[in-house]
Amino acid sequence: MEGSRITVQDVKRSEKLAALIEAANRMLEVIGYTEHGPRHVGFVSHTASSILEQLHYPQRMCELAAIAGWVHDVGNAVNRVNHGITGGAMLFPLLLEMGMPVEEVVTIVGAVGNHEEQNGKVVSAVSAALIIADKSDAHRTRVRRSAYNPEDIHDRVNFAIAENAVEVDPVRRIIRFALSMDESSSVMDFMEIYLSRMQMCEEAAQFLGCRFELVVNGVTVNRTRRDALREGRREDRA
Ligand SMILES: [Fe+2]
Ligand SMILES: [Fe+2]
Repeated sequence: MEGSRITVQDVKRSEKLAALIEAANRMLEVIGYTEHGPRHVGFVSHTASSILEQLHYPQRMCELAAIAGWVHDVGNAVNRVNHGITGGAMLFPLLLEMGMPVEEVVTIVGAVGNHEEQNGKVVSAVSAALIIADKSDAHRTRVRRSAYNPEDIHDRVNFAIAENAVEVDPVRRIIRFALSMDESSSVMDFMEIYLSRMQMCEEAAQFLGCRFELVVNGVTVNRTRRDALREGRREDRA
């Protein structure tokens, strides 16, 4: 993988990709979805590469995660349904055309094609990082202010989240998604729409040799006594 020159900055400068990201965001706005534009893909790009960096993956792999994050939702320009798969197919010629080596392109299209919880599987470290970064972008800034509808559970849950953070502990091998919600929604609402996404994050963390912790308002909601005991033993040995 060494020697490639295509960086996330090159990808951000692509007019074709910018047009697709813009079209995807606009189309999702029309059908009532939360923000999927440069703010979302920027967050996912930064977070995906940061997860791999903190786990000491090679620099080029971190860059590929940043690129995958920036382009992961372009398939929404065609249709929301199966947008990961559509996006992967669209990106293959576009990234080759930019001069990216085919072995890097396949890593990116495989990650993009598998980021949806409905049909995706964790297929690589880049894929795992992309999944965790994408699913952890739950925040009130994603709600389109002009269209906020408290009857819509996605709007309600996202709007209630004032803070979110993905923290990586490379020593204890924990990836923690911590968020704080106010009372305009509830943990029950959050779990109703995020359960399968959080389960996918658990699988992704496991792929990276880590445990995924979901912390809502200071309480870890997916940690068992067995996990705590196992971790205690690991600390005893350290
Ligand atoms: Fe997506
Ligand atoms: Fe996304």
